[in-house]
Amino acid sequence: MEKRLIQVLNKEKTDIMPVWLMRQAGRYLPEYRATRAQAGSFLQLCYTPELAAEVTIQPIRRFGFDAAILFADILLVPQALGLDLWFETGEGPKLSKVTSKSDIDALKPVSEIDKTLAPIYETVSILSKELPKETTLIGFAGAPWTVATYMVQGGGSKDHALPRKWLAETPDEFMSLIWKIEEATIHYLSKQIEAGAEVVKLFDSWAGALPVNFVKQVSIDPMARIAKALKETYPDIKVIAFPRGIGASYLDAGSEYFDAIALDAGVNLDWAFKAMPNTVFQGNLDPMAMVAGGDYLESETRRIMKGVGDRPHIFNLGHGITPDADPDNVSRLLEIIRGA
Ligand code: CP3
Repeated sequence: MEKRLIQVLNKEKTDIMPVWLMRQAGRYLPEYRATRAQAGSFLQLCYTPELAAEVTIQPIRRFGFDAAILFADILLVPQALGLDLWFETGEGPKLSKVTSKSDIDALKPVSEIDKTLAPIYETVSILSKELPKETTLIGFAGAPWTVATYMVQGGGSKDHALPRKWLAETPDEFMSLIWKIEEATIHYLSKQIEAGAEVVKLFDSWAGALPVNFVKQVSIDPMARIAKALKETYPDIKVIAFPRGIGASYLDAGSEYFDAIALDAGVNLDWAFKAMPNTVFQGNLDPMAMVAGGDYLESETRRIMKGVGDRPHIFNLGHGITPDADPDNVSRLLEIIRGA
């Protein structure tokens, strides 16, 4: 019997919807906070395979999700390409900046990234041995555009003005950064697949910052090329793409190389189902349902279940679970979905 999540990615309907949550390993769980304290810092946690595997498994142990997502971060790839990366409390990630063609040329060759990323492959390998047999192992990377926004801005930002300006002024030059990240990502995900990842997800968290005429070229096409390259070598690998916040441009997000497309909470589910009748989707639940609980959690979950009806669908949030989420609300969510 195939795992539930794989069945859905094969466009088969399952008796019960598979469910997992973005950022399911994280600060809302006391056991995560304890292991993170033991590791010393978030980055040390990412680079210590035994501990990274432990925090990946914690939410599986507690909730029995259908999938475990590798514990790592999208910013490890720019770090492996030679940028400094650090996390400032309360401010999020910081990186040394890439602001010119010569900065792009100075990035390390892709053949060198495993020197930094080898522990991540070790985490995947541990997980592929330790996870329960019904749990799907998801590997991931940031999509080139989102990773580029952090590299060019030197961290997070509200408006992503610097990468948007670079793209508008000299698109060819900016695209050479996208291609560099694309090449590194194909290598990085290939190694995760060889270590045991069954599904890979590409997070384009800031796709919604792109002007409409660049969505396809800068968000969707690079993700599709990565998926195509992976499938050429690993024909069974499943790919989920998440071009968050692109609104009606979800209509352009289809690709024969994507097995599912993740939806943020702003998308009208009925519209998406009607507009793209043959696409498998993931997500759509407002992450605040995990904070608010109560009637909001019940009604929003049931609205999605009703909207999904007989289609194959992966239940998930529209974005990551937040540190103030209540684990009891997650338990309740699983009871509703599984009909307990
Ligand atoms: O989903 C999971 O449970 C797997 C692990 C995972 C993390 N980051 C762990 C993490 C995944 C898939 C990511 C992806 C990621 N990282 C994205 C794309 C997904 C999204 O949320 O849009 C992005 C944009 C990043 C970059 C990043 N990493 C930011 C902006 C931050 C700070 C945010 C914050 O909440 O402080 C991180 C840190 C981070 N990555 C944490 C975790 C659990 C919090 C670190 C901590 O323990 O202090």
